[in-house]
Amino acid sequence: MPTESAYQICINPACRKTYSVDEVLSGCTQCGNLLDIAYDWNKLPVPKSLREFEARWSSRSNPLDYSGVWRFRELMRFAADDQIVTIGEGQTQLRATASVAKYVGVKDQNLLLQYEGLNPSGSFKDNGMTAASTHARMVGAKMTACASTGNTSASLAIYGSATGLFDVVVFVGSGKIAFGKLSQALDYGSKTLQIEGDFDDALKQVRDVCKAEKIYLCNSVNPFRLEGQKSIMFRVLEGLGWDVPDWIVAPGGNLGNSSAFGKAFSELKELGLISRIPRLAVINAAGANTLNQLYGQQGIRWNGGYTDDAKIDGFFDVMDRENRRASTLATAIEINRPVNLKKCLRALDVCNGVVREVSDQAILDAKAKIGAGGFGCEPASAASVAGARLLREEGIIAPSDRVVCILTGHQLKDPNATVGYHSSLPHRIDPKLASMGIQSASFANGPVPVPNNLERILEVLRELG
Ligand code: F0G
Repeated sequence: MPTESAYQICINPACRKTYSVDEVLSGCTQCGNLLDIAYDWNKLPVPKSLREFEARWSSRSNPLDYSGVWRFRELMRFAADDQIVTIGEGQTQLRATASVAKYVGVKDQNLLLQYEGLNPSGSFKDNGMTAASTHARMVGAKMTACASTGNTSASLAIYGSATGLFDVVVFVGSGKIAFGKLSQALDYGSKTLQIEGDFDDALKQVRDVCKAEKIYLCNSVNPFRLEGQKSIMFRVLEGLGWDVPDWIVAPGGNLGNSSAFGKAFSELKELGLISRIPRLAVINAAGANTLNQLYGQQGIRWNGGYTDDAKIDGFFDVMDRENRRASTLATAIEINRPVNLKKCLRALDVCNGVVREVSDQAILDAKAKIGAGGFGCEPASAASVAGARLLREEGIIAPSDRVVCILTGHQLKDPNATVGYHSSLPHRIDPKLASMGIQSASFANGPVPVPNNLERILEVLRELG
Protein backbone atom coordinates (compact mmCIF):
# COMPACT_ATOMS: atom_id res chain seq x y z
CA MET A 1 0.00 0.00 0.00
CA PRO A 2 1.40 3.40 -0.93
CA THR A 3 0.66 5.00 2.42
CA GLU A 4 2.98 2.58 4.21
CA SER A 5 5.93 4.21 2.49
CA ALA A 6 4.95 7.72 3.55
CA TYR A 7 4.86 9.22 7.02
CA GLN A 8 4.79 12.58 8.78
CA ILE A 9 7.87 13.80 10.59
CA CYS A 10 8.71 16.83 12.73
CA ILE A 11 11.14 19.23 11.03
CA ASN A 12 12.96 19.90 14.32
CA PRO A 13 16.24 17.90 14.23
CA ALA A 14 16.19 17.64 18.01
CA CYS A 15 12.76 15.95 17.89
CA ARG A 16 12.06 14.11 14.60
CA LYS A 17 8.93 12.48 16.02
CA THR A 18 7.09 10.57 13.30
CA TYR A 19 3.40 10.01 12.71
CA SER A 20 1.37 7.94 10.32
CA VAL A 21 -0.14 9.68 7.29
CA ASP A 22 -3.54 8.64 8.63
CA GLU A 23 -3.26 11.18 11.45
CA VAL A 24 -4.65 14.70 11.14
CA LEU A 25 -2.12 17.13 12.58
CA SER A 26 -1.08 20.69 11.99
CA GLY A 27 2.09 20.48 14.04
CA CYS A 28 4.23 18.15 16.14
CA THR A 29 2.43 17.09 19.31
CA GLN A 30 5.77 16.79 21.12
CA CYS A 31 7.53 20.08 20.32
CA GLY A 32 4.99 22.12 18.35
CA ASN A 33 7.12 22.48 15.20
CA LEU A 34 5.89 22.02 11.64
CA LEU A 35 5.58 18.58 10.08
CA ASP A 36 6.89 17.28 6.76
CA ILE A 37 5.67 14.39 4.67
CA ALA A 38 8.58 12.00 4.17
CA TYR A 39 8.94 8.87 2.05
CA ASP A 40 10.85 5.60 2.13
CA TRP A 41 11.99 6.18 -1.41
CA ASN A 42 13.57 2.75 -1.79
CA LYS A 43 10.19 1.12 -1.22
CA LEU A 44 8.57 3.27 -3.91
CA PRO A 45 8.71 2.95 -7.69
CA VAL A 46 10.40 6.25 -8.51
CA PRO A 47 11.26 6.92 -12.18
CA LYS A 48 14.92 6.83 -13.16
CA SER A 49 14.55 10.01 -15.16
CA LEU A 50 12.09 12.90 -15.07
CA ARG A 51 11.52 12.28 -18.78
CA GLU A 52 9.51 9.18 -17.87
CA PHE A 53 6.68 11.48 -16.75
CA GLU A 54 6.27 12.71 -20.33
CA ALA A 55 4.64 9.39 -21.31
CA ARG A 56 1.62 10.50 -19.28
CA TRP A 57 0.77 13.11 -21.90
CA SER A 58 -0.47 10.29 -24.11
CA SER A 59 -2.92 8.96 -21.50
CA ARG A 60 -4.68 12.14 -20.59
CA SER A 61 -8.09 10.47 -20.47
CA ASN A 62 -6.92 9.17 -17.06
CA PRO A 63 -7.73 12.06 -14.67
CA LEU A 64 -4.58 11.40 -12.66
CA ASP A 65 -2.40 11.70 -15.74
CA TYR A 66 -4.33 14.77 -16.89
CA SER A 67 -3.71 16.55 -13.59
CA GLY A 68 -0.55 18.67 -13.65
CA VAL A 69 -0.07 17.69 -10.02
CA TRP A 70 -0.79 13.94 -9.98
CA ARG A 71 1.05 13.33 -13.22
CA PHE A 72 4.01 13.39 -10.81
CA ARG A 73 2.34 11.21 -8.17
CA GLU A 74 5.39 8.98 -7.61
CA LEU A 75 7.05 12.06 -6.11
CA MET A 76 4.22 12.62 -3.60
CA ARG A 77 3.00 9.11 -2.96
CA PHE A 78 1.09 9.46 0.30
CA ALA A 79 -2.27 8.33 -1.10
CA ALA A 80 -3.49 5.38 -3.13
CA ASP A 81 -4.71 6.28 -6.63
CA ASP A 82 -8.34 5.59 -5.77
CA GLN A 83 -8.22 8.16 -2.95
CA ILE A 84 -6.90 11.03 -5.05
CA VAL A 85 -9.17 14.06 -5.41
CA THR A 86 -8.56 15.99 -8.62
CA ILE A 87 -10.42 18.63 -10.61
CA GLY A 88 -7.89 18.89 -13.43
CA GLU A 89 -5.57 21.34 -11.69
CA GLY A 90 -2.08 22.23 -12.87
CA GLN A 91 -2.72 22.88 -16.57
CA THR A 92 -0.34 25.82 -16.36
CA GLN A 93 2.26 27.24 -18.69
CA LEU A 94 5.84 28.43 -18.63
CA ARG A 95 6.41 31.19 -21.16
CA ALA A 96 9.45 33.24 -22.12
CA THR A 97 8.49 36.90 -22.33
CA ALA A 98 10.92 39.21 -24.12
CA SER A 99 9.36 42.51 -23.02
CA VAL A 100 9.44 41.48 -19.37
CA ALA A 101 13.01 40.21 -19.85
CA LYS A 102 13.94 43.69 -21.04
CA TYR A 103 12.23 45.25 -18.02
CA VAL A 104 14.09 42.94 -15.65
CA GLY A 105 17.38 43.34 -17.52
CA VAL A 106 18.11 39.80 -18.69
CA LYS A 107 18.47 38.30 -22.18
CA ASP A 108 15.27 38.01 -24.25
CA GLN A 109 14.62 34.29 -23.77
CA ASN A 110 15.86 34.19 -20.19
CA LEU A 111 12.87 35.57 -18.32
CA LEU A 112 10.19 32.94 -17.96
CA LEU A 113 6.79 33.42 -16.40
CA GLN A 114 5.08 30.43 -14.79
CA TYR A 115 1.35 31.18 -15.10
CA GLU A 116 -0.25 29.51 -12.09
CA GLY A 117 -3.28 31.76 -12.54
CA LEU A 118 -4.44 29.23 -15.14
CA ASN A 119 -5.53 26.80 -12.43
CA PRO A 120 -9.28 26.09 -12.02
CA SER A 121 -9.73 28.64 -9.22
CA GLY A 122 -7.22 31.04 -10.76
CA SER A 123 -4.26 30.62 -8.42
CA PHE A 124 -1.43 28.27 -7.50
CA LYS A 125 -3.37 27.20 -4.42
CA ASP A 126 -5.13 24.46 -6.37
CA ASN A 127 -1.82 22.56 -6.54
CA GLY A 128 -1.92 22.28 -2.79
CA MET A 129 -5.65 21.98 -2.30
CA THR A 130 -5.89 18.86 -4.46
CA ALA A 131 -3.37 17.23 -2.10
CA ALA A 132 -5.04 18.48 1.10
CA SER A 133 -8.44 17.37 -0.23
CA THR A 134 -6.99 13.96 -1.01
CA HIS A 135 -5.77 13.63 2.56
CA ALA A 136 -9.10 14.92 3.89
CA ARG A 137 -10.82 12.15 1.95
CA MET A 138 -8.31 9.54 3.20
CA VAL A 139 -9.16 10.38 6.80
CA GLY A 140 -12.89 10.57 6.16
CA ALA A 141 -13.34 14.32 6.73
CA LYS A 142 -16.76 15.71 5.92
CA MET A 143 -15.97 19.39 6.47
CA THR A 144 -12.89 21.41 5.51
CA ALA A 145 -11.86 24.93 6.50
CA CYS A 146 -9.20 27.55 5.97
CA ALA A 147 -8.32 31.15 6.72
CA SER A 148 -7.34 33.19 3.72
CA THR A 149 -6.35 36.46 2.13
CA GLY A 150 -8.61 35.22 -0.68
CA ASN A 151 -7.01 32.65 -2.92
CA THR A 152 -6.83 29.77 -0.47
CA SER A 153 -10.53 30.26 0.26
CA ALA A 154 -11.41 30.36 -3.45
CA SER A 155 -9.43 27.18 -3.97
CA LEU A 156 -10.86 25.27 -1.03
CA ALA A 157 -14.35 26.40 -2.03
CA ILE A 158 -13.99 25.07 -5.58
CA TYR A 159 -12.77 21.69 -4.29
CA GLY A 160 -15.90 21.55 -2.16
CA SER A 161 -18.27 22.56 -4.95
CA ALA A 162 -16.69 20.61 -7.81
CA THR A 163 -16.26 17.32 -5.92
CA GLY A 164 -19.22 17.41 -3.54
CA LEU A 165 -17.04 15.59 -1.01
CA PHE A 166 -16.88 18.23 1.71
CA ASP A 167 -18.77 21.12 3.19
CA VAL A 168 -16.47 24.10 3.25
CA VAL A 169 -16.14 26.99 5.66
CA VAL A 170 -13.70 29.80 4.93
CA PHE A 171 -12.50 32.56 7.24
CA VAL A 172 -11.42 35.82 5.65
CA GLY A 173 -10.33 39.13 7.16
CA SER A 174 -12.34 42.28 6.78
CA GLY A 175 -11.72 44.94 4.21
CA LYS A 176 -8.66 43.82 2.32
CA ILE A 177 -9.85 40.76 0.39
CA ALA A 178 -9.93 41.37 -3.37
CA PHE A 179 -13.44 41.06 -4.76
CA GLY A 180 -12.60 38.49 -7.42
CA LYS A 181 -11.59 36.10 -4.64
CA LEU A 182 -14.46 36.83 -2.28
CA SER A 183 -16.90 36.39 -5.15
CA GLN A 184 -15.52 32.91 -5.82
CA ALA A 185 -15.99 31.67 -2.25
CA LEU A 186 -19.57 32.98 -2.29
CA ASP A 187 -20.38 31.59 -5.71
CA TYR A 188 -18.92 28.14 -4.98
CA GLY A 189 -21.30 27.94 -2.06
CA SER A 190 -18.91 27.74 0.88
CA LYS A 191 -19.86 29.20 4.25
CA THR A 192 -17.89 32.44 4.39
CA LEU A 193 -17.07 34.05 7.73
CA GLN A 194 -15.67 37.53 7.52
CA ILE A 195 -13.75 38.06 10.76
CA GLU A 196 -13.30 41.51 12.23
CA GLY A 197 -9.56 41.53 11.84
CA ASP A 198 -6.85 40.60 9.33
CA PHE A 199 -5.55 37.33 7.92
CA ASP A 200 -3.48 36.54 11.01
CA ASP A 201 -6.56 36.93 13.22
CA ALA A 202 -8.60 34.73 10.86
CA LEU A 203 -5.91 32.03 10.89
CA LYS A 204 -5.75 31.96 14.66
CA GLN A 205 -9.53 31.59 14.86
CA VAL A 206 -9.80 28.88 12.24
CA ARG A 207 -7.10 26.81 13.94
CA ASP A 208 -9.03 26.90 17.21
CA VAL A 209 -12.36 26.22 15.50
CA CYS A 210 -10.94 23.22 13.62
CA LYS A 211 -9.54 21.78 16.85
CA ALA A 212 -12.80 22.30 18.74
CA GLU A 213 -15.10 20.99 15.99
CA LYS A 214 -12.81 18.36 14.39
CA ILE A 215 -12.96 20.17 11.06
CA TYR A 216 -10.18 19.41 8.56
CA LEU A 217 -7.78 22.40 8.28
CA CYS A 218 -6.46 23.23 4.81
CA ASN A 219 -4.06 26.10 5.49
CA SER A 220 -0.43 25.53 4.59
CA VAL A 221 0.44 24.35 8.12
CA ASN A 222 -1.11 21.21 6.68
CA PRO A 223 1.96 19.37 5.34
CA PHE A 224 -0.04 17.50 2.69
CA ARG A 225 -0.88 20.75 0.94
CA LEU A 226 2.77 21.53 0.37
CA GLU A 227 3.32 18.13 -1.26
CA GLY A 228 1.00 19.21 -4.07
CA GLN A 229 2.71 22.56 -4.41
CA LYS A 230 6.01 20.79 -5.20
CA SER A 231 4.50 20.04 -8.60
CA ILE A 232 4.82 23.71 -9.63
CA MET A 233 8.57 23.11 -9.74
CA PHE A 234 8.16 19.82 -11.60
CA ARG A 235 6.19 21.64 -14.29
CA VAL A 236 8.76 24.43 -14.46
CA LEU A 237 11.46 21.83 -15.12
CA GLU A 238 9.19 20.12 -17.64
CA GLY A 239 8.66 23.48 -19.39
CA LEU A 240 12.45 23.81 -19.69
CA GLY A 241 12.89 20.33 -21.15
CA TRP A 242 14.03 19.21 -17.64
CA ASP A 243 16.85 21.75 -17.49
CA VAL A 244 17.32 23.47 -14.17
CA PRO A 245 17.01 27.30 -14.33
CA ASP A 246 19.40 29.60 -12.46
CA TRP A 247 16.70 31.31 -10.42
CA ILE A 248 13.22 30.71 -9.10
CA VAL A 249 11.65 33.96 -7.92
CA ALA A 250 8.44 33.80 -5.88
CA PRO A 251 6.36 36.20 -3.81
CA GLY A 252 6.44 35.41 -0.09
CA GLY A 253 3.34 35.53 2.12
CA ASN A 254 2.70 32.62 4.44
CA LEU A 255 5.78 31.03 2.83
CA GLY A 256 4.17 27.74 1.88
CA ASN A 257 5.15 27.95 -1.76
CA SER A 258 8.81 28.71 -1.19
CA SER A 259 8.92 25.92 1.41
CA ALA A 260 7.41 23.45 -1.06
CA PHE A 261 9.85 24.51 -3.78
CA GLY A 262 12.85 23.90 -1.53
CA LYS A 263 11.50 20.47 -0.58
CA ALA A 264 10.88 19.60 -4.23
CA PHE A 265 14.44 20.40 -5.22
CA SER A 266 16.09 18.68 -2.28
CA GLU A 267 14.09 15.52 -2.96
CA LEU A 268 14.83 15.59 -6.70
CA LYS A 269 18.53 15.98 -5.91
CA GLU A 270 18.43 13.18 -3.35
CA LEU A 271 16.77 10.92 -5.92
CA GLY A 272 19.41 11.79 -8.51
CA LEU A 273 16.74 13.25 -10.82
CA ILE A 274 18.48 16.65 -11.08
CA SER A 275 22.17 17.41 -10.82
CA ARG A 276 21.96 20.91 -9.37
CA ILE A 277 19.52 23.07 -7.43
CA PRO A 278 18.46 26.55 -8.66
CA ARG A 279 18.75 29.61 -6.44
CA LEU A 280 15.56 30.79 -4.78
CA ALA A 281 14.54 34.41 -4.29
CA VAL A 282 11.60 35.07 -1.98
CA ILE A 283 10.11 38.53 -2.38
CA ASN A 284 8.08 40.27 0.31
CA ALA A 285 5.95 43.35 -0.17
CA ALA A 286 7.61 46.16 1.78
CA GLY A 287 4.39 46.56 3.78
CA ALA A 288 4.45 42.89 4.84
CA ASN A 289 8.13 42.20 5.24
CA THR A 290 8.50 39.85 8.21
CA LEU A 291 10.71 37.40 6.30
CA ASN A 292 12.97 40.14 4.98
CA GLN A 293 13.26 41.64 8.45
CA LEU A 294 14.14 38.32 10.03
CA TYR A 295 16.37 36.98 7.26
CA GLY A 296 17.88 40.18 5.89
CA GLN A 297 18.15 42.35 8.97
CA GLN A 298 18.20 40.01 11.96
CA GLY A 299 20.31 37.36 10.23
CA ILE A 300 17.99 34.47 11.12
CA ARG A 301 19.03 31.27 9.32
CA TRP A 302 17.93 27.63 9.19
CA ASN A 303 21.18 26.60 10.86
CA GLY A 304 20.63 22.87 10.44
CA GLY A 305 17.19 23.23 12.00
CA TYR A 306 18.51 24.93 15.13
CA THR A 307 16.89 28.28 14.40
CA ASP A 308 17.28 31.13 16.87
CA ASP A 309 13.74 30.85 18.23
CA ALA A 310 14.30 33.35 21.05
CA LYS A 311 15.22 36.00 18.50
CA ILE A 312 12.23 35.12 16.29
CA ASP A 313 9.84 35.22 19.27
CA GLY A 314 11.37 38.53 20.37
CA PHE A 315 10.68 39.97 16.92
CA PHE A 316 7.02 38.97 17.09
CA ASP A 317 6.70 40.25 20.66
CA VAL A 318 7.84 43.70 19.54
CA MET A 319 5.50 43.50 16.53
CA ASP A 320 2.57 42.82 18.85
CA ARG A 321 3.60 45.38 21.46
CA GLU A 322 3.89 48.13 18.83
CA ASN A 323 0.75 46.82 17.12
CA ARG A 324 2.57 46.79 13.76
CA ARG A 325 0.24 45.30 11.17
CA ALA A 326 1.03 44.41 7.57
CA SER A 327 -0.37 46.75 4.94
CA THR A 328 0.10 46.39 1.19
CA LEU A 329 -1.85 46.66 -2.05
CA ALA A 330 -0.67 43.13 -2.71
CA THR A 331 -3.40 41.94 -0.36
CA ALA A 332 -2.69 38.24 -1.04
CA ILE A 333 0.59 38.55 0.86
CA GLU A 334 -0.54 40.94 3.58
CA ILE A 335 0.61 38.66 6.40
CA ASN A 336 2.35 39.42 9.70
CA ARG A 337 3.34 35.96 10.98
CA PRO A 338 4.17 33.58 8.15
CA VAL A 339 3.39 30.13 9.50
CA ASN A 340 5.92 28.35 7.31
CA LEU A 341 8.80 30.58 8.33
CA LYS A 342 11.07 27.72 9.41
CA LYS A 343 10.43 25.61 6.33
CA CYS A 344 11.14 28.66 4.19
CA LEU A 345 14.44 29.19 6.04
CA ARG A 346 15.27 25.58 5.20
CA ALA A 347 14.37 26.17 1.54
CA LEU A 348 16.58 29.25 1.44
CA ASP A 349 19.39 27.14 2.87
CA VAL A 350 18.91 24.33 0.34
CA CYS A 351 18.65 26.76 -2.58
CA ASN A 352 21.34 29.27 -1.60
CA GLY A 353 18.48 31.73 -1.47
CA VAL A 354 18.01 35.44 -1.06
CA VAL A 355 15.16 37.53 0.34
CA ARG A 356 14.16 41.01 -0.73
CA GLU A 357 11.23 43.39 -0.32
CA VAL A 358 9.71 45.60 -3.00
CA SER A 359 7.41 48.61 -2.72
CA ASP A 360 3.77 48.59 -3.83
CA GLN A 361 4.84 51.08 -6.52
CA ALA A 362 7.39 48.61 -7.91
CA ILE A 363 4.77 45.82 -7.71
CA LEU A 364 2.13 47.73 -9.70
CA ASP A 365 4.65 48.91 -12.31
CA ALA A 366 5.89 45.33 -12.77
CA LYS A 367 2.30 44.11 -12.95
CA ALA A 368 1.54 46.48 -15.82
CA LYS A 369 4.62 45.23 -17.68
CA ILE A 370 3.58 41.60 -17.11
CA GLY A 371 0.07 42.32 -18.39
CA ALA A 372 1.34 44.15 -21.46
CA GLY A 373 3.75 41.29 -22.19
CA GLY A 374 1.47 38.29 -21.73
CA PHE A 375 -1.37 36.81 -19.71
CA GLY A 376 -1.18 39.15 -16.70
CA CYS A 377 -1.37 38.48 -12.97
CA GLU A 378 -2.64 39.90 -9.68
CA PRO A 379 -0.52 42.35 -7.65
CA ALA A 380 1.14 39.87 -5.24
CA SER A 381 2.39 37.78 -8.16
CA ALA A 382 4.10 40.78 -9.71
CA ALA A 383 6.34 41.04 -6.64
CA SER A 384 8.32 38.23 -8.27
CA VAL A 385 9.16 40.28 -11.37
CA ALA A 386 9.77 43.44 -9.33
CA GLY A 387 12.09 41.37 -7.13
CA ALA A 388 13.95 39.90 -10.10
CA ARG A 389 14.47 43.43 -11.44
CA LEU A 390 15.85 44.57 -8.10
CA LEU A 391 18.21 41.60 -7.88
CA ARG A 392 19.38 42.29 -11.43
CA GLU A 393 20.03 45.95 -10.53
CA GLU A 394 22.02 44.79 -7.52
CA GLY A 395 24.06 42.49 -9.77
CA ILE A 396 22.93 39.38 -7.86
CA ILE A 397 21.11 38.11 -10.96
CA ALA A 398 23.31 38.25 -14.09
CA PRO A 399 21.96 39.22 -17.56
CA SER A 400 22.79 35.72 -18.78
CA ASP A 401 20.94 33.99 -15.91
CA ARG A 402 17.78 32.05 -16.70
CA VAL A 403 15.11 33.36 -14.35
CA VAL A 404 11.68 31.85 -13.66
CA CYS A 405 9.17 34.15 -11.95
CA ILE A 406 6.13 32.45 -10.44
CA LEU A 407 2.92 34.27 -11.30
CA THR A 408 0.83 32.94 -8.48
CA GLY A 409 -2.61 34.41 -9.23
CA HIS A 410 -4.78 35.39 -12.19
CA GLN A 411 -5.09 38.95 -13.44
CA LEU A 412 -8.87 38.97 -12.84
CA LYS A 413 -8.55 38.30 -9.11
CA ASP A 414 -8.15 41.98 -8.28
CA PRO A 415 -9.55 44.18 -11.05
CA ASN A 416 -9.71 47.22 -8.74
CA ALA A 417 -5.91 47.36 -8.51
CA THR A 418 -5.58 46.98 -12.28
CA VAL A 419 -8.22 49.50 -13.26
CA GLY A 420 -7.05 51.94 -10.55
CA TYR A 421 -3.52 51.87 -11.93
CA HIS A 422 -4.45 52.16 -15.58
CA SER A 423 -7.02 54.88 -14.96
CA SER A 424 -4.49 57.01 -13.12
CA LEU A 425 -3.02 60.11 -14.73
CA PRO A 426 0.41 61.59 -13.90
CA HIS A 427 -1.24 64.36 -11.87
CA ARG A 428 -4.18 62.31 -10.57
CA ILE A 429 -3.47 58.89 -9.15
CA ASP A 430 -6.48 56.75 -8.27
CA PRO A 431 -7.39 57.84 -4.69
CA LYS A 432 -7.29 54.30 -3.23
CA LEU A 433 -3.83 53.71 -4.71
CA ALA A 434 -2.65 57.19 -3.69
CA SER A 435 -3.72 56.50 -0.10
CA MET A 436 -1.40 53.48 -0.17
CA GLY A 437 1.57 55.57 -1.33
CA ILE A 438 1.39 55.10 -5.09
CA GLN A 439 2.80 58.24 -6.70
CA SER A 440 2.99 57.36 -10.36
CA ALA A 441 1.57 55.02 -12.95
CA SER A 442 4.30 55.10 -15.57
CA PHE A 443 2.84 52.26 -17.62
CA ALA A 444 -0.82 53.26 -17.34
CA ASN A 445 -2.96 52.41 -20.34
CA GLY A 446 -6.17 54.19 -19.44
CA PRO A 447 -9.54 54.04 -21.14
CA VAL A 448 -10.09 56.95 -23.53
CA PRO A 449 -13.51 58.58 -23.36
CA VAL A 450 -15.00 59.32 -26.79
CA PRO A 451 -18.34 60.77 -27.91
CA ASN A 452 -20.86 58.47 -29.54
CA ASN A 453 -19.85 59.76 -32.96
CA LEU A 454 -18.03 57.90 -35.77
CA GLU A 455 -15.98 60.85 -36.99
CA ARG A 456 -14.71 61.73 -33.52
CA ILE A 457 -13.95 58.08 -32.80
CA LEU A 458 -11.88 57.83 -35.97
CA GLU A 459 -10.06 61.06 -35.12
CA VAL A 460 -9.23 59.81 -31.64
CA LEU A 461 -7.99 56.50 -33.03
CA ARG A 462 -5.69 58.34 -35.41
CA GLU A 463 -4.42 60.55 -32.58
CA LEU A 464 -3.66 57.48 -30.50
CA GLY A 465 -1.59 56.16 -33.42
N1 F0G B 1 0.62 34.99 -4.33
C1 F0G B 1 -0.71 34.87 -4.19
C2 F0G B 1 -1.56 35.27 -5.34
C3 F0G B 1 -1.26 34.38 -2.98
O1 F0G B 1 -2.58 34.26 -2.86
C4 F0G B 1 -0.41 34.05 -1.93
C5 F0G B 1 -0.91 33.57 -0.65
C6 F0G B 1 0.97 34.19 -2.13
C7 F0G B 1 1.45 34.65 -3.34
C8 F0G B 1 1.95 33.83 -1.09
O2 F0G B 1 2.18 32.47 -1.06
O3 F0G B 1 1.69 32.04 1.31
O4 F0G B 1 2.84 30.35 -0.09
O5 F0G B 1 4.01 32.46 0.56
N2 F0G B 1 -2.13 33.60 -0.34
C9 F0G B 1 -2.69 33.00 0.86
C10 F0G B 1 -4.20 32.97 0.79
C11 F0G B 1 -2.12 33.46 2.11
O6 F0G B 1 -4.85 32.95 1.84
O7 F0G B 1 -4.74 32.92 -0.30
P1 F0G B 1 2.72 31.78 0.26
